[in-house]
Amino acid sequence: MDAGTFLKENGLDVEKIDRVALLATFIEEMDAGLAGKHSSLMMIPSFITIDKRVKTHTPVVVLDAGGTNLRAAVVTIDGSGKASIGSFLKRPMPGTRGELSAEAFYDAFADFLMPVIATSETIGFCFSYPAEITPTCDAKLICWTKQIEVPSVVGTLIGSGLQDQLAKRGFKRKAVILNDTVATLLAGKSAGVAKAYSAYVGFILGTGTNTAYVEHNANITKRSDLNSRESQVINVESGGFSRVTQSAFDQAMDAQTHDCGHYVFEKMISGAYLGRIGFEVLKAAAKNNLFSAAAVVTIQTWDKLSNMDLDAFCGDKPQANNPFMVESFSVADRNTVKQLCTPVYARAAVLTAINLASAILKTGEGKDPQHPVCVNVDGSTYYKTLTADFQNRVQHELAALLKPRGIAYDLIKVDESPVIGAAVAGLMAG
Ligand code: BGC
Repeated sequence: MDAGTFLKENGLDVEKIDRVALLATFIEEMDAGLAGKHSSLMMIPSFITIDKRVKTHTPVVVLDAGGTNLRAAVVTIDGSGKASIGSFLKRPMPGTRGELSAEAFYDAFADFLMPVIATSETIGFCFSYPAEITPTCDAKLICWTKQIEVPSVVGTLIGSGLQDQLAKRGFKRKAVILNDTVATLLAGKSAGVAKAYSAYVGFILGTGTNTAYVEHNANITKRSDLNSRESQVINVESGGFSRVTQSAFDQAMDAQTHDCGHYVFEKMISGAYLGRIGFEVLKAAAKNNLFSAAAVVTIQTWDKLSNMDLDAFCGDKPQANNPFMVESFSVADRNTVKQLCTPVYARAAVLTAINLASAILKTGEGKDPQHPVCVNVDGSTYYKTLTADFQNRVQHELAALLKPRGIAYDLIKVDESPVIGAAVAGLMAG
């Protein structure tokens, strides 16, 4: 059997994805989430509006809890929106190296902040996980994603947990918590002050994935406590989208995760999972005699395959120590690996474009080319994926969805968006 037929028989068929229909489904789920109806999209109000004054020339402490690293910094923003970032600290995100207790988790955060804590009364805290935000910008963790293992923190208020530990160390602080996509949106707004954008979107495709956009409170009908004349940023939690069909490979991979059946969309497009899907494709292909006997033996000895190695190989930039460069892979085997795994990345690009289009359309703006929608994109998977001409493919697919509808948008990149956006939020509040 050839690689293409094998993929199709197992439900991985990039051309068959009905882009327009899936986009409509995405928007349907967004609307249901805003109305509090059953939906796989949480559509979480951030209680952050984008037009508040941001204090300039005032340093603010920023904490950035991402999927891989925990980082802290001191950030100052000048009158033109330009951010200066100093005192960068970095350590692995607590809970990425085995299970932790809540106590140990908050302890690690507070200890980590000690070198910079004296700088400001407010902490802008970028928290890259699904959390319900309170009107005072504390955050109750709904569930972990990205395979973090600190179960006892689920359901607790992250800001209060941190504040308690800081108080024990003699520091009384206010924490303003926001999702990293909300921060990315704010960083785009801050960097783009000079341009007449009509609306803002923040999108991340890294270890995980998610989207934020600005919505009218009047459309957030699941809440009755909002001022209906105002707007605020919505954290879509787009990684949770479930109305998309998993292939047999996605299902096999999902079955091995801590949160099987959840975050189906994230598990199809983000960096934490692409290598793992590819590995499932290769293991299944090995069983179906798509490789030489020697290559099959090699694949069977692996216990995992990293996204970085698979992408470097399929993207034609493998280092000499890349797992596919060993002798047991013949030229034909190597071609087969590319034919089998490139579609994993191509599919991620198509789904990413549909996700982006949904948020852009949901802003209701971009109808005047003089006032495009500003989409600030962050994340290593988006910028670094080599396979399937990833970034260009996303852009072509996006244009194919939005150009016929006459929607103008700009994709922009602001380095260190989550950190800058968290600073903006801290400086708006304090
Ligand atoms: C989380 C989101 C986050 C995204 C990008 C996802 O796993 O659920 O809250 O924004 O990753 O970091």
